[in-house]
Amino acid sequence: ADVDAGETVFNANCAACHAGGQNVIMPEKTLEKEALESYLSGGRNEKAVINQVTNGKNAMPAFGGRLSDEDIANVAAYVISSSESGWE
Ligand code: HEM
Repeated sequence: ADVDAGETVFNANCAACHAGGQNVIMPEKTLEKEALESYLSGGRNEKAVINQVTNGKNAMPAFGGRLSDEDIANVAAYVISSSESGWE
């Protein structure tokens, strides 16, 4: 997957709710390392992000059908990479 392409997908589709890896709707459910380890179904890995982005969860919309599988894989790689580097 392409992390740089994933950043572009993130800025266009995710940043409204997740700017800086945060969460404006459910503040504890951030995209930071510890939160993903605690809350993401399936654990902190790209497959688990792909599943949540494709299907949505509660107030988070589903992106399956709106984004290509490639865009979703790239944005998942960007989320995991950024959770490791600390979202700067
Ligand atoms: C949760 C990624 C778009 C609202 C999450 C989580 C991930 C994620 C990985 C799990 C975080 C955790 O449990 O700590 C993304 C990506 C997006 C995106 C990659 C773009 C493709 C959005 C948008 C919204 C949103 C646009 C708001 C309209 C939420 C909410 C949760 C959440 C409310 C918590 C869901 C719950 O557990 O009840 N997101 N998100 N997300 N996201 Fe997003």
